Amino acid sequence: MGRLDGKVIVLSAAAQGIGRAAAIAFAKEGAQVTATDINGEKLRELDGIQGIRTKVVDVTKKDQVEALAKEHDRVDVLFNVAGFVHHGSILDCEEADWDFTMNVNVRSMYLMSKAFLPKMLEKKSGNIINMASVASSIKGVVNRCVYSTSKAAVIGLTKSIAADFIEQGIRCNCVCPGTVDTPSLRGRIQAQPDPEQAYKDFMKRQKTGRMCTAEEVAHLCVYLASDESAYVTGTEHIIDGGWRLNLRLERHKEGNSPPMANPTPQLYLL
Ligand SMILES: NC(=O)c1ccc[n+]([C@@H]2O[C@H](COP(=O)([O-])OP(=O)(O)OC[C@H]3O[C@@H](n4cnc5c(N)ncnc54)[C@H](O)[C@@H]3O)[C@@H](O)[C@H]2O)c1
Repeated sequence: MGRLDGKVIVLSAAAQGIGRAAAIAFAKEGAQVTATDINGEKLRELDGIQGIRTKVVDVTKKDQVEALAKEHDRVDVLFNVAGFVHHGSILDCEEADWDFTMNVNVRSMYLMSKAFLPKMLEKKSGNIINMASVASSIKGVVNRCVYSTSKAAVIGLTKSIAADFIEQGIRCNCVCPGTVDTPSLRGRIQAQPDPEQAYKDFMKRQKTGRMCTAEEVAHLCVYLASDESAYVTGTEHIIDGGWRLNLRLERHKEGNSPPMANPTPQLYLL
């Protein structure tokens, strides 16, 4: 018996990272998974896994999203994963960066949810999971201006859908990870002038001494996709190893560690 036996699940950004781990975890628990991504070559690595069907979809393209929805008579769970990280403050964020990020991170979830909701409403049953982040309305993070803005919007979208359709059998939640070891995160480290130092500085903010794995986020997603979470809606599920906690400040107050007198900008680069 799988925890997701009989469920039909559609998700985006399944070619790598959290989306890929979630697609595999969903299938392992018995779901019929439609795994989509814009990157067909990487996506095809999932072909042959029992329970997974792959399809190339750009979630920012309304016609492709609507065609995907039309292919499914029934969808129990929609998992909106696709997202892009822009690095920088508001002064580094050009209009094109702003538009691109909001398009991939927020408008895509609007398009997907709008396309799949009518099918869920027909069945009076549906479950939408959106990928947000702790870098959002939860925590101010340096150099994540438009990213955090977009993820705060994802939290708002999640609560709005949950409120509007709760009486029609729909629930909607979001997942807010801290730092997850994924190919794109590794890419952002490599893009720094001194990747080795950037990695070291970056690890300093991991109070658990390590990053989260994509598989750990996938475990949470299995719970949210399953009926085990049937009474859970309109919530943000934080999985950040305590990153949002201001431990340094708390310890300083208790006299256990000095305050960060002169924070090095590198520490906050990623
Ligand atoms: N990695 C982290 O530390 C972290 C932390 C918090 C939140 N998140 C969020 O989790 C999600 C996944 O992040 P990740 O790091 O696992 O993934 P990733 O960045 O490694 O991969 C993202 C995937 O999205 C796909 N994609 C990009 N644009 C697309 C589009 N227009 N249509 C369809 N697919 C598209 C890419 O091809 C890629 O396979 C994102 O929304 C991200 O913001 C990640």
